[in-house]
This record gives sequence, structure tokens and C-alpha cells, in this order.
Amino acid sequence: MLPSTLVARLQITLPIIQGPMTGADTPALAAAVSHAGGLGMLASGTRSPAAMAEAAAQVRRQTDKPFGMNMFVQATPSPDDATVRAALERLAPLYAELGLEPTVPAQWCEDFEAQFEALLAARPAVASFTFGILSAAQVERLHAAGSYVIGTATTLAEARAWAAVGADAVCASGMEAGGHRGTFLGDFVASMVGTLALVPHCVDALTIPVIAAGAIMDGRGIAAALALGAQAVQMGTAFLACPESAIGSAYREALNNAQATDTRITRIFSGRPARGIVNAMMERLQGDEATVPAYPIQNALTGALRRAAAQAGRADYLSLWAGQGVGAVRPMPAAALMQVLAQEWRAATTARAT
Ligand SMILES: Cc1cc2nc3c(=O)[nH]c(=O)nc-3n(C[C@H](O)[C@H](O)[C@H](O)COP(=O)(O)O)c2cc1C
Repeated sequence: MLPSTLVARLQITLPIIQGPMTGADTPALAAAVSHAGGLGMLASGTRSPAAMAEAAAQVRRQTDKPFGMNMFVQATPSPDDATVRAALERLAPLYAELGLEPTVPAQWCEDFEAQFEALLAARPAVASFTFGILSAAQVERLHAAGSYVIGTATTLAEARAWAAVGADAVCASGMEAGGHRGTFLGDFVASMVGTLALVPHCVDALTIPVIAAGAIMDGRGIAAALALGAQAVQMGTAFLACPESAIGSAYREALNNAQATDTRITRIFSGRPARGIVNAMMERLQGDEATVPAYPIQNALTGALRRAAAQAGRADYLSLWAGQGVGAVRPMPAAALMQVLAQEWRAATTARAT
């Protein structure tokens, strides 16, 4: 089988990208995936510029293979006091249960411009983005730094917009995917397009490579995505269960026991729709869906609560991001998972050919 242009350009041997996962990926996970022939990723949306540099250096200490870094395209908000106070009041009873008082965080999010400079300085093989879109000039600066640019799209219009600013590839993220929806153009509800519908639509309309994301859990899924015309897959939930991921034991247990019907899209944790396993916090705050402030305000306001819950080993007040494929997680080291995925993909491809 001839390597796709994306695989050849990135000098990887398997068309498998480990999805960037804020709060869950680690340099060890990224290095293991890259070392095994895929592309490891470091989610950098909430990493400070110094932490971005350190994480990239840690991957480079573990492997000389290419890896990628991912960022949230966002502006620092300036919410009014009344909005913040109302949001804190709604969260106060939950904080109280963990013996805490909610406070206004020191910052709403990392400064995007500073992070972008850190990304240019880190010069990863791949720079990928979600939540928004870059300008053509920003894409050009990344190209000049030697990075291959991937934009996340949840609709064909978003995929076209990324192609128009000069992105090298688009990650078509179906509604089955775990974590936040990357939607940045249309309405969130209308942009809930499934992987099977989104990927071929993007493949047919674009001349740049398309990466399929959303509920791809095994080699059959990889073969199916490639049959639709994708040149690679991006898998998040499957890698979340690896011991190299940073999630705690309560999250790990929830992941191992969940089925597709246990996940739901919610904005109560962060203010941006995201898919995760239903828990007590989701159910208790369900009525606030429409009123919680937008990302990153709600995300920052619930941050201390979620960190405390993680420390206390309580899955009920954690954001348990996971995709609809969660029932198929196979907890094993990333290197072993990569080997299994490669075998399954080859078997599925051979079966299709015979
Ligand atoms: C815990 C978690 C955190 C994630 N964080 C990010 C992120 O920071 N940036 C991003 O572009 N995608 C993020 N994603 C999406 C993944 O990179 C990937 O596209 C998605 O998980 C693919 O769908 P799957 O979970 O069904 O495999 C996250 C997903 C999960 C499960």
C-alpha cells in the first residue's frame, strides 16, 4: 500500500494520530505513540508558554520522531462582575461539599499570542488548532517555522475555511468524539455532524488531506476511515485508557465501566459543548446548560472544583471527557496499543481486498 501524502510528509509509518487531550495527555504518551510510528500530540491549550517549551523538550528527550502540539484559538475574555457572581453562586453548593469556597481565578485562560510565540519557538512537526481559526499570516509563520498546520473542523464550512487560510490538513471531528466540540462558525447544535457523514463530505470538497476523528477505537475503524478517503485518523478516547495518560484512578474506573449510552454533550463544566461520561455534577447542573458563561470563563470557575475532586478520587465532580466509542477502550501501554491497532488495521484492509 502506498503511503498517503500526509503520512509521507510527516515521516510517520502508521496513519494514527494520538488526539491532543488537555489535562490527560503527557510527554510520555506522545513520545510512545511517535516512537511506535504514529504521531504523538501535546495539548497545549491550557499550558503556559514555559510549560509548552518544557513538555516539548520532554518529548524530545524520549524520542527523535516527529510529534505535534495543539492549541485553542481564543481571546482572553473580560466578563462583567454580575455574570461571574451568578456563576459562582450556582457552583457554591458543589464547592461546599468538598469543603471549598469558590473564588475568581487569577486568569481566565493563557494568553494566546504568548502561546503562539512559544509554539513557533518549539517548532513541532505539527501544529494543530481547535475552537477557532488562524489568519493566513499566522499559518505562514508556522510554515516558516517548519510546522505542518492542521485545523479542526466540525462542518464542511469550517473545513473549507481552514483550507482557505492555507492549512495543510483538516481534522474532521465527528459528533461522536470525546472532549470539546471545536465548532467555530455555525451553531453548535447544527454542527453535530457524525464522522461517517463529515469525513467523505470533506474529502470530496477539499484538495488537502482529511484526518478522521470520532469513535475510532480499533483497526476496523481505521480501515473504515481510510476507505472514506481520510489519510489518517485521530484517536483520543482509545489513548486515554493507556497508563501513560495523566488521568486519575476515579476517571480511569469510569472510563473502563462506561458504554456509548453513558456519554452526553454538556457545557456545564466549561461553557463550551463537550462530550463526557454522565456523572452527578452533569446531572445536578443540567438546568444551567443555557445560562453558564461561555468558555473559558466557566472552565476557569469550575477548575478548582474539578482539581479537588480529582485529588479526592471523586468521579462525581470531574469532567470525564470521553467519546461514544468508550465501551471499546483497551487499557494497555501506548506502544502495545499501537501494535494491536496496526495489526487490526492490516487485517481489516486485507479482508476488504479479498
Ligand atoms: C480528555 C480529552 C481531552 C481533549 N482535549 C483536546 C484538546 O485539548 N484539543 C483538541 O484539539 N482536541 C481535544 N480532544 C479531542 C481529541 O483530540 C480527539 O480529536 C477526539 O478524542 C477523537 O474522538 P474519540 O475520543 O472518539 O477518539 C480531547 C479529547 C479528550 C477525550
